[in-house]
Amino acid sequence: MARRRLIAANWKMNKTPEETEAFVRSFLPEAARQASLEVLLLPPFTSLDRAGRLLVGTGIALGAQDLHFEAAGAFTGEVSAAMLSACGCRYVLVGHSERRALLREDDALVNRKLRRAVASGLVPILCVGETLAERRGGETERRIAAQLAAALDGVESRDVRPLIIAYEPVWAIGTGEAASPAAAEEVMGRIRETVGSAHGKEAREGVRLLYGGSVTPQNIASFLDRPDIDGALVGGASLRPDALARIVAAASSERA
Ligand code: 13P
Repeated sequence: MARRRLIAANWKMNKTPEETEAFVRSFLPEAARQASLEVLLLPPFTSLDRAGRLLVGTGIALGAQDLHFEAAGAFTGEVSAAMLSACGCRYVLVGHSERRALLREDDALVNRKLRRAVASGLVPILCVGETLAERRGGETERRIAAQLAAALDGVESRDVRPLIIAYEPVWAIGTGEAASPAAAEEVMGRIRETVGSAHGKEAREGVRLLYGGSVTPQNIASFLDRPDIDGALVGGASLRPDALARIVAAASSERA
């Protein structure tokens, strides 16, 4: 089954609406449309409406970095799935390691958010990954399996197939030290098998797996060479339109 490649730009807590607009205006002419490749911008909440308007009809997708697990109500400061959809979002990150570590999001909360996203028609991008201590302690496989099992608990197999899973080793995020493509693929191959054992062949073959952690225009091709890696979740290198355009160009020309 051919899976469409995805390059997702996670801007984290960067860019005002004005800066978002400047980025999009500069990026659009550089980002050649590629049927085999999907490009996704994940700006902060405050830029979503502006980005959504600018991206209509461009073929570039929009997503958010988080959502609340309830549909609406007295949750001061939170943002709902319906609000994201109304801004033009199709995707939403769930369980990014920065939220897990800095805001103490646990697996149970990640599961509630993921289920809300699915119920609301958003495609969740579930982030998993081990810390350096877990890797050194030989705990990577166990940790990732636990994150997957908890996050996908109660999710129907038919809802798993469009899901996206980003493998982001915590020690590779923002450090300039990416995982080796072979090491990343080893973990990602196991993620695919785990999804398959729990949800069947279609889910195994349909789920898109992204690598994240110090992806650059220079190293993107080495990850996409690997059959189990369907794209990338890019942080720092996605903040400059020229750098993101170079990553997209490398990913397009890599398509087998
Ligand atoms: P960097 O690309 O800056 O390492 O960030 C990766 C990341 O956390 C994307 O979600």
